Amino acid sequence: MTLSALIKPSTQLAPPRNSPMWRPDFTWGVATAAYQIEGATRADGRLPSIWDTYCATPGKVLNGDTGDMACDHYRRWASDVDLISDLGVDAYRLSIAWPRVIGLDGQLNHQGVDFYRRLLDRLADLGVQRYVTLYHWDLPQHLEDRGGWLNRDTAYRFADYADKISRALQGRVTAWSTLNEPWCSAYLGYSHGRHAPGLRQPRYAPQAMHHLLLGHGLAQPALKANDPGAQRSIVVNIGRGMPEDPNSAADRDAAHLFEVQQNAWVLDALLEGRYPDELFRLWPGTEPLVLEGDMALISQPLDHLGINYYHRSTLRSDGAHGFVEVCRPGVERSQMGWEVAPEAFTELLVGFRQRYANLPPIVITENGLASADMVVDGAIEDRQRVIYLQRHFAAVHDAMAAGVDVRGYFVWSLMDNFEWAYGYERRFGLVHVDYGTQERTLKRSAKGLQAFLRERAAGIV
Ligand code: FCB
Repeated sequence: MTLSALIKPSTQLAPPRNSPMWRPDFTWGVATAAYQIEGATRADGRLPSIWDTYCATPGKVLNGDTGDMACDHYRRWASDVDLISDLGVDAYRLSIAWPRVIGLDGQLNHQGVDFYRRLLDRLADLGVQRYVTLYHWDLPQHLEDRGGWLNRDTAYRFADYADKISRALQGRVTAWSTLNEPWCSAYLGYSHGRHAPGLRQPRYAPQAMHHLLLGHGLAQPALKANDPGAQRSIVVNIGRGMPEDPNSAADRDAAHLFEVQQNAWVLDALLEGRYPDELFRLWPGTEPLVLEGDMALISQPLDHLGINYYHRSTLRSDGAHGFVEVCRPGVERSQMGWEVAPEAFTELLVGFRQRYANLPPIVITENGLASADMVVDGAIEDRQRVIYLQRHFAAVHDAMAAGVDVRGYFVWSLMDNFEWAYGYERRFGLVHVDYGTQERTLKRSAKGLQAFLRERAAGIV
């Protein structure tokens, strides 16, 4: 009897049987980010980041939560690595906290670097591949004080950090990703205000985006030279827009413009070396200052493209040039209030393949669901997450069957953690964290993934 036969069909977590996602060369992983799990924000010379400042500003983060303790991973890293290894995943995606590894003088902080060295070595010893993101939103505060991503110099500071850290960790990393979701850094951070540094100026986002992507481009030569055996990539978030009224041309245009700013803004720049004109139809007069040669740096070839997908959005025309997001009734939602729509994932992936002639191989670097999980008699039956993942695995399988080259899939997240402006109230983990005791407990979803990976490892296809 196979393992999957022992698990109730409704809670079995695996892609379709005939899928290439069962093959040993398809990379399965779990993901986290430094600020969301590490805690120890003042340890070993770590400098303050924009998220420390944002969390300390009253009213910014739900319940006044901060990343000061988070999952205490900075101290518990060794047992967390055992947990990752026990899940049976091929790979772990983590991020490096820039303010932990580079001091005020711009030189390496060796205590911070040693933390990541130990972590990466232990993962390698256990046969777990290391996907490392250099910037998952925790900009050193002293750089924000000089304008942050609105200042072109920050792109050069980022490239210098990438150079120094890739030299220090050379040979330990499977794949380097420069940025996580530059859309969130630029738009949510500088125009919308919902993320650090919390600025609200519509014209800021395109300039911040340009400097983020420039930093990505400037970092490429150093990553290539310092660690030639590692892959190079960037991680982007993608979203699907659906018109509220499909018969309304204005709503259809609204949904289209939503996808321009969610997807084409970043992907056209990375893959075609230009910003879409329609972005500036949506946000007139916000064109960033772009110097000669910038777009060529930004659009250098990638070994793979990291894609984060969570949900679909419903849009209505705002009556002018833009859109407003509305709540579609009768749709399943997550604890975040996000629409669950796996078919939108397939549509987006297939659409990118059609649109971009030079689309690199894709790695799904994040996908997952928040739910209000509760421990009952020591167990967590996170059925909604199990079904969500099943359906999204199948959606990626469908995209692959339609010809999209997908090489890996990382579930967000290894464990419950600090969910940015929502603090600890939103739980995305496969593993439950009791923030009072820091106890980790595998949810049903973690056990389902573990069972699938064991089956795959045993060659039961
Ligand atoms: C993504 C972030 C990640 C996590 C998930 C839920 O936008 O990259 O850190 O917060 O959303």
